[in-house]
Amino acid sequence: MDLRNCHNFHDFRRLAKRRVPGPIFDYIDGAADEETTHRRNTEAFESCDLVPSVLRGVGSVDLSVTAMGQKLALPVYCSPTALQRLFHHQGERAVAAAAAKYGTMFGVSSLGTVSLEELRKAHDTSQIYQFYFHKDRGLNRAMLQRAKDARIDIMMLTVDSITGGNRERDLRTGFSIPFRLTLAGMLQFAVKPRWGIKYITHERFRLPQLEEHIDMRGSALSIGGYFTEMLDPSMNWDDVAEMVRHWNGQFCLKGVMSPADAKRAAEIGCTGIVVSNHGGRQLDGSRASFDQLAEIVDAVGDRIDVLMDGGVQRGTHVLKALSVGAKAVGVGRYYLYPLAAAGQAGVERALGLMKAELERDMKLMGCIAIGQLSRDNLRLR
Ligand code: LAC
Repeated sequence: MDLRNCHNFHDFRRLAKRRVPGPIFDYIDGAADEETTHRRNTEAFESCDLVPSVLRGVGSVDLSVTAMGQKLALPVYCSPTALQRLFHHQGERAVAAAAAKYGTMFGVSSLGTVSLEELRKAHDTSQIYQFYFHKDRGLNRAMLQRAKDARIDIMMLTVDSITGGNRERDLRTGFSIPFRLTLAGMLQFAVKPRWGIKYITHERFRLPQLEEHIDMRGSALSIGGYFTEMLDPSMNWDDVAEMVRHWNGQFCLKGVMSPADAKRAAEIGCTGIVVSNHGGRQLDGSRASFDQLAEIVDAVGDRIDVLMDGGVQRGTHVLKALSVGAKAVGVGRYYLYPLAAAGQAGVERALGLMKAELERDMKLMGCIAIGQLSRDNLRLR
């Protein structure tokens, strides 16, 4: 099996599983507790059906949308995710280049492995910065200023991760940051020599958004442990209101699930929210993003841009979310498996397949522009 045989999410996932060491695959693939929310994120798209229209003359389809002030050629964007150079040595560079090729936006995490400035210089496409609010207020101020100086397009504050989700797969494998090859680890990794050689022969692993502030030479932490130890659970609406004022641009909360919180986000001046449960990696038992989308769009959709992520594997999933009222749809694992399996070529193939699916599905729906989708073309089961 190779990249040419990958035609969908499941194929990329299988190829990634074959190519990267088990602990890394499990970090991407895993979620919290029983992983119920993670599974339900995708299942939720089956709770309603598309109702197509026919004979509407669908010669050419325009997939572009405007979300958070950004004109995107695709209604799908690459959500920010952490530690990408661990998955493939090209890491964020590959994802940014693929997003730029398809005219969409991508996110860089506070826990990213390439600097936000480098990526900003390399591409004109819209860039999101995913902010983790740390206990160290000095670090928070410095990160915000760096992102401002680099002219990041969207500040996206993650609000669902004030403490670590219980990712039991990571506890079993010992997956941690900083990533270290212990002797035991080397043995475990020796079964995937291709990954190991690339890891060792490429640039040293770094967390450039954080390294000036956090001494990573200390003991290694699981990602859950990092959240619990480093992030500030006392973060509240006043802290965020201050950030919004200081940022003075597109500001989005990622991980809003309740209509009341969505309204509060609008009141303090956020320009968008992402309906998200962090890919089921934080609070297991949280409602699926798609199930919660309509309520949130009804609450604030006329005031701020509502985006969503979680469980998106298909063009039809994207069309359903857009029909409900999402302005754009984020994907995470959808591009991470291809990244892990094949670097930039993998991410480009995944985004290319998504684009082709969206074009085909729009034609079959009888729509030539995203604005033509609405709840009229959806029925609950
Ligand atoms: C995770 C964080 C880092 O879900 O976003 O692992």
